Amino acid sequence: MKPSRYNDLASTVLFTKRNRRIKVLRHHGDLKLYGMGRSAAVFRIKNENRVIKVFYPAFEKTAIEEKQNYEKLNGNPYYPTIYEAGINYLVMDFIEGKTFFECLAEGIPLKPHYIEQVDNGLQFAKAAGLNPSDIHLHNLILTKEDEVRIIDVARFSQEKKCTQWDDLKIGYTRYYQRPFFPKKIPKWVMYSVSKFYRLYKYLAIKRGKE
Ligand SMILES: Nc1ncnc2c1ncn2[C@@H]1O[C@H](COP(=O)(O)OP(=O)(O)O)[C@@H](O)[C@H]1O
Ligand SMILES: [Mg+2]
Repeated sequence: MKPSRYNDLASTVLFTKRNRRIKVLRHHGDLKLYGMGRSAAVFRIKNENRVIKVFYPAFEKTAIEEKQNYEKLNGNPYYPTIYEAGINYLVMDFIEGKTFFECLAEGIPLKPHYIEQVDNGLQFAKAAGLNPSDIHLHNLILTKEDEVRIIDVARFSQEKKCTQWDDLKIGYTRYYQRPFFPKKIPKWVMYSVSKFYRLYKYLAIKRGKE
């Protein structure tokens, strides 16, 4: 079978590791680096309303899991549609908008109905037999049409319970919704809170095991 154009594009992406951080060394001219996460780099594809998510070496297993999870979510408007999957890549809808993280950094208010939309999307995933996990501010996108989209579903098939979204919602109602709570939050503050949160969770799990 002839390799697809997307497969050719994905094969041009080269990563390098410097100071324990992964960087994109080179890629095809039709790709534009759009975002990077823990497991992959996401590129916009020239003249298409799609992105290609190219997983870092050693994250091939994550690519398969994410593809299988998206198959279960196929057709649900809260999630991007997947058009092609390869060993180390996924091609999906480009969701134009800002992540919740960017909204908070820029002072764009997060309205209660966005939270409801996330809940609806996660409810659908549960009904499809998945276990929504790793729901954080970088994986939720607010579109120009004022709608919420959920991305990065690789960990939706893990077995252990993830409380991240419930914890974020507690923070939302307990602090963010208060009239005097700042609606624009510096990025360094959010990164620090997330570091402390992860440390707290790690220690809580360790204590639970002892
Ligand atoms: N379909 C998409 N449309 C628009 N932006 C996206 C899309 N998928 C990913 N991104 C952007 O790329 C970033 C990294 O992608 P993500 O799928 O979360 O990777 P990882 O699995 O490594 O966390 C996201 O935080 C988001 O900013
Ligand atoms: Mg992510």
